[in-house]
Amino acid sequence: MANVIVVGTQWGDEGKGKVVDLLSEYFDAVARYQGGTNAGHTVVVGEEKIVLHLVPSGVLRKGKICILGNGVVIDLPALLQEIDQLVRLQVKIDENLFISKNAHLVLPYHKLLDAELERLRGGRRIGTTRRGIGPAYVDKMARTGIRIGDLTDPTLFRERLRANLEEKQAQFPHHQELRELDAEKVAAEQLEQFERARGFLTDCSLVINDLINAGRSILFEGAQGTLLDIDLGTYPFVTSSSATAGGACTGTGVSPTAINGILGVTKAYTTRVGEGPFPTELTDAMGEALRERGQEFGATTGRPRRCGWFDAVAVRYSARVNGLSALALMKLDVLDACERIRICTGYRRKGEGYQDFPNETGLLKECEPIYEEVPGWNESIVGTTSYDRLPARCRAYVERLEALTGVEVGLISTGPRRDQTILRATPAMRQWGLAR
Ligand code: IMP
Repeated sequence: MANVIVVGTQWGDEGKGKVVDLLSEYFDAVARYQGGTNAGHTVVVGEEKIVLHLVPSGVLRKGKICILGNGVVIDLPALLQEIDQLVRLQVKIDENLFISKNAHLVLPYHKLLDAELERLRGGRRIGTTRRGIGPAYVDKMARTGIRIGDLTDPTLFRERLRANLEEKQAQFPHHQELRELDAEKVAAEQLEQFERARGFLTDCSLVINDLINAGRSILFEGAQGTLLDIDLGTYPFVTSSSATAGGACTGTGVSPTAINGILGVTKAYTTRVGEGPFPTELTDAMGEALRERGQEFGATTGRPRRCGWFDAVAVRYSARVNGLSALALMKLDVLDACERIRICTGYRRKGEGYQDFPNETGLLKECEPIYEEVPGWNESIVGTTSYDRLPARCRAYVERLEALTGVEVGLISTGPRRDQTILRATPAMRQWGLAR
């Protein structure tokens, strides 16, 4: 059986939640490898719509093992709330949820700092989700962070938390809420909540490698997207973790040699939440129409997403840095009503052409998209489950994206539900056992 990484190829919100939920049927375990509650995966099960921020969406499938890797940052109260929500939906999680002891905690002061740092950035703000993600990863990298496993030693935990909080209070002496945070109180709350999470703690590298050695298959679930990756994204307008495929290995303790393939999830157009360059952004009625038809509002913050045409330069870059074996093309039906559709095939900047994504924010900001226009198919494809049943112009669009990105489209989403999906028998999909 195959071990596959699911990664976002754009700026997040590509529909990884649906893909992971759908594909987890074919895998034994789902492991999340980075990010925290900044992610929000909307999953539709039957008539019910739920948003998961931390627990992999595979949890909704009976008997599937769900793992939160060491690369994830955990907001404990938020995790417990999510668990409560799942329990209410009668999802069984007791024996199949595993949390790495080495995952770092997002603490209340991280959230205060996230908001404060954004305020201080003023016009240069990143547009973060304010979930404390950046400050938590800063502490991890500064080697002052607190891991969830540290909660098993209350004395050590209290000591670390006090030192950490005092340091922040000294850095921001005028921040009243931060000044009023009491280390002992925060520690007591975390320790109390930890009692409900203690049983899930594990050495996640050991668990996953044991599963792999026993011939079981793992689906690695990335959050956010390639263009939000701390190293490979549109820095500084990025998140603070490794959202690309490489992060799956460091974020779970699994060797790259154990990975059999990488599925890049992409929308049939492009969206972005928060600030930063976005060459194909549409600020006109077409952008508004995409937002309305695609219901492009953030799953975590409710913010309207910026919308634009498909950017083949960006996805080609994602294909390169992730080594994509196949693409999952999401929300293709959102383009149903388009008379004509544009595809960005290259950029132009100061008279110079770019075929490769110039990953420097200053440069990218000045890039103008070069578009190719194709006719729309002008009919509903909602719920189509067979590739051959798609209108010829729709297939031509898919095949044009394949040609421009150099990656085959193995999965096409034609609606939000699990069954509104086309699985194509491309070599990668066959190798992973997802299509015949
Ligand atoms: P942070 O991850 O909250 O620090 O936010 C940094 C940037 O990443 C902001 O532009 C956010 O809007 C964006 N971002 C973070 N998580 C997601 C996500 O799950 N989907 C889309 N954008 C995200």
